Order: sequence, then C-alpha cells, then structure tokens
Amino acid sequence: MRLLHVVATARQESSRTLVISQGLLKQLRRKLGDLHVETLDLFASDLPAIAGDNIEAKYTLMKGLKIDKSHEESWQEIEKLISQFLGADIVLVSVPMWNFSIPYALKYYIDCIVQPGYLFRYDEKGQPMGMVQGKKMIFVSTRGGDYSENSPFHVYDFQEPYLRAIFGFCGVSDMHFVRAQPLDITPEIRKIAMKNAMQAAKDLVNSFEFV
Ligand SMILES: Cc1cc2nc3c(=O)[nH]c(=O)nc-3n(C[C@H](O)[C@H](O)[C@H](O)COP(=O)(O)O)c2cc1C
Repeated sequence: MRLLHVVATARQESSRTLVISQGLLKQLRRKLGDLHVETLDLFASDLPAIAGDNIEAKYTLMKGLKIDKSHEESWQEIEKLISQFLGADIVLVSVPMWNFSIPYALKYYIDCIVQPGYLFRYDEKGQPMGMVQGKKMIFVSTRGGDYSENSPFHVYDFQEPYLRAIFGFCGVSDMHFVRAQPLDITPEIRKIAMKNAMQAAKDLVNSFEFV
C-alpha cells in the first residue's frame, strides 16, 4: 500500500504534529506490514507557480479545451504533483492550525493539485463533480488553543471545515481527523493533549479495515 505524507508544518524536530504523525505511521506499518511511504515536505519544496503559463492552462482546462502547446512544459510540474497525490492509497497530512486556518504552504499545494479534469470536472449541467475515488485521507491537526465543539472558539476553526470542504469537493469521502489541542497553554495541558492525540491515532488505525 502506498502512503503519501504531506508535511505542512514548518518545524522539524520540534514539531508536535510530526510526533503524532510518526506515531500514527508506526501503527499503520504494524497493521499493514507492507507500507511504502513517500514524504512531501511542503516547506522544503519548490512548488510550481500558479501564475503565468500555469494560470492560463488552468483557465483553458476550465473551458473544457486542450492545453496550448506552449503551456505544456510548465504544466508537467503540476501533473507530477497531481499524479503523486492520485497514486497514493492513503494521504496523511500533518497540519498545524495557522491563524484559524491552514499554513500557506498547504494552501499553495491545494491550489496546485485541485485542477479541472484531474481532481474535479463539470457534468453536463455544469455542476462540479469530484473525481478522486477510493482514497483514504488522514489529517493530523494540531492547535495551540482549544477549538473543540464545546469551546467558545469552535466557530473560529476554519482549518478542519476547509479541509473537509476542499477534499470533499474533489470526491474524497474517507476522511479522518486526529486533533491535538490545546498545545500552547501550559506544559501539563500539552502533555495531556499529546497523550490523548497519540491514543486517538492508535484507535483510528485499529478501526481501519483494509481489504
Ligand atoms: C504562524 C502561526 C500561526 C498560528 N495560529 C494559530 C491559531 O490561529 N490558533 C491556534 O490555536 N494556534 C495557532 N498557532 C499554534 C500552532 O497551531 C501550534 O503551536 C501547533 O502545535 C504547531 O504545530 P508544530 O508543533 O507542528 O509546529 C500558530 C502557530 C504559528 C507558527
């Protein structure tokens, strides 16, 4: 089974998000035995520009036309990222909350891969249809504060609803969230939140039934 680990935290050794993701990966390896993991570190990657030739190519595709020859070379970089995403059976996303939403590097990645004719298309009535099928997505999401349902800050959570919306739009229905919060209040509270998240990751992997 192929897993793509999309790393959207800018911190390496000190990242709490990655500690939980590594724990989850360990559980997955134990469960599946044969797991091929490819890592895409978004803060260390040079993603293709969504400007110039690529923005023209996108609008050509949205009109249902073929990409102009002069835009093909540049578009190949986008296609490479899309194939990497589509080729994975499982996509694990390590994503801290930044300013109530997602880090800009993840938004940039989403802007690269969510393309008409690849991840979604328009049907005869002009309605958008998701094209991604049979993919499991796991999000390890960390927050400095508490955005759980009973918190007054729940309404400020634009991280999880956005991720559910954009990948749901692309057709992904098998989505799971492991949330660690609040991590930046006191060391004691962080310790409990991390322990709960590690347990949640373990329970999640245990609940999966792979065929
Ligand atoms: C630029 C930036 C913005 C942040 N914005 C928020 C926020 O809006 N809400 C929140 O609860 N925590 C926020 N945090 C805290 C992080 O979500 C939290 O520390 C998280 O654990 C960081 O993950 P990491 O350990 O993988 O870097 C922010 C951190 C940074 C660096």
